[in-house]
Amino acid sequence: MKFRNVSGLRGEVAVPGDKSISHRSIMFGSIARGITEVRHFLQGADCLSTISCFRNMGIDIENNGGAVLVRGKGLRGLQQPDCVLDCGNSGTTTRLISGILSAQDFSVTLTGDASIQKRPMKRIIEPLSLMGARIESVNGNGCAPLRIQGGPLHGISYRSPVASAQVKSSILLAGLYADGETSVTEPYLSRNHTELMLRHFGADIRSEERSDGACACVRPARELYGASIDVPGDISSAAFFLCAGLMVPNSEILLKHVGVNPTRAGILQVCRAMGGDISVLDPSEDSGEPAADLLVRSSSLHGTVIEGAIIPTLIDELPMIAAMACFAEGETIIRDAAELKVKESNRLEVMVKNLAAMGADVTETEDGMIIRGGRPLHGAVVDSRLDHRIAMTFAVAGLCAEGETEVLGSECVDISYPEFYRDLERLASWRGLSFVQ
Ligand code: S3P
Repeated sequence: MKFRNVSGLRGEVAVPGDKSISHRSIMFGSIARGITEVRHFLQGADCLSTISCFRNMGIDIENNGGAVLVRGKGLRGLQQPDCVLDCGNSGTTTRLISGILSAQDFSVTLTGDASIQKRPMKRIIEPLSLMGARIESVNGNGCAPLRIQGGPLHGISYRSPVASAQVKSSILLAGLYADGETSVTEPYLSRNHTELMLRHFGADIRSEERSDGACACVRPARELYGASIDVPGDISSAAFFLCAGLMVPNSEILLKHVGVNPTRAGILQVCRAMGGDISVLDPSEDSGEPAADLLVRSSSLHGTVIEGAIIPTLIDELPMIAAMACFAEGETIIRDAAELKVKESNRLEVMVKNLAAMGADVTETEDGMIIRGGRPLHGAVVDSRLDHRIAMTFAVAGLCAEGETEVLGSECVDISYPEFYRDLERLASWRGLSFVQ
C-alpha cells in the first residue's frame, strides 16, 4: 500500500479490543468452569489463533464477531488435540498456552508461522522444565515447534532475566496446577493483565514491587470460574493515532475507551515528555482494567531519553515512537530495549533500516537507537517484514514524508488491527484528501 503527505487528521476512532486481554480471556475462560462472555474481543488473526487452539482441545467457543462466549470445562477439562496446535504469528499464544499444556495429562505439539519458529522459547522452556514439565524444541534450536508432555508440576520461585509478561504469565499459568506456591520476579514490572484477570476468575494471586524487582505469586487453584470481560481498546493500536495526531499538523483525534493500565501506558508519559498535547478524559474501570478517552492535538515535539523501567510499559509502541522522534527537534535516545530484536521481526534493525531509507538520521545501538530528529523525511519503499507494528508505523510516517511511501506486506496489520487503513483513511479524508492506496 502507498501513502503520501496529508494536511491534517481529524475525527474519532474506537480502536479494536486489547490484544493481550483478548488472548487471556479465551485462555482463562477455557480452563474456568462455566461461561465466560467477552465483549469487544479483538478479531485479529493472533487472537483467532488462540480461539482455534482451544477449540482443537474440545472447548466450545462461539464467536459472532461482536461478543465471544467461551464454555469453559474447568482446569482439567481440556482434551488432547488430534492435530498440531497452530499459534500462527502469536508469541502470546505460544508462550502462555505452553504454561497450561505443561500441566495436562496428554502430549501435544505446538507450532506457528516462519516468524514464530525463529522466536526464543528457551525463556519458557527453562522455567517450565524446572517445574517438572517435559518440553522440548523439536528442532533443538530453542524455538517452536515445541513438543510438550504434560504432567504433575512443582511450585518454583523463579527470577526471570527479562521483564516479559509472556514469560511471567506462562509460569503463573503452570503455577495454577502446581503442588505449591509459584512466584516470578522480573527486573521491571511488565504488563499485569494475567494477574488482574486471574484474580477476576477466582485465583489466589498477588503482586508486589520489591527492591530487587516486581514479584507475582500464585497459589495452586482448585478451580477458576467463568467471568464477564469488557475488553478496553488496545493502547498499542491507539499509539499509531496518538503519534500521528501529534506529528501531522492540523490534527485533532479523539480515541474512545482506550485501556490505560499503567503497565501499558508509558507512551503517554513519553509523548508528554516530548511536548505532546494529550488529554486523558472520562476515566472508567472494567474488571480492574482502567480505560479512558484520549484526545490528541498536533504539537511541536522535542527529543527525550527512553530507558529503564518504562521500557516494558511501551515495548510494542517503540517502533512508532522511534518514527515520531524523527519529527521531534533534537536527539531521542532509546536504551534497554534489546527485546525489540526478538519480536515479530528484529524491530531495531528494521526500524533503523527503514527510517534511514526515508532520510532519517538514526543509529542502531546494542540495546536501542539514537535518532537525531528535525530533518524532513522523504518517501521510500519500506519492507514491513510482515510485522504488523512495522507496517502501521510506516503508514503513519508516510503521512508526514515528502512524496510517496510504499509499505511492502502492508496486509499484515490483520494480526492486531484489521480495520487500521480504513480508520486512518477516515481521519485523513476530513477535507476530501486521502492517501494513495
Ligand atoms: C504481550 C507481552 C509483550 C508484548 C506482546 C504481548 C502479552 O511481550 O510485546 O505483544 O500479551 O503478554 P513480552 O512479554 O515478551 O515482552
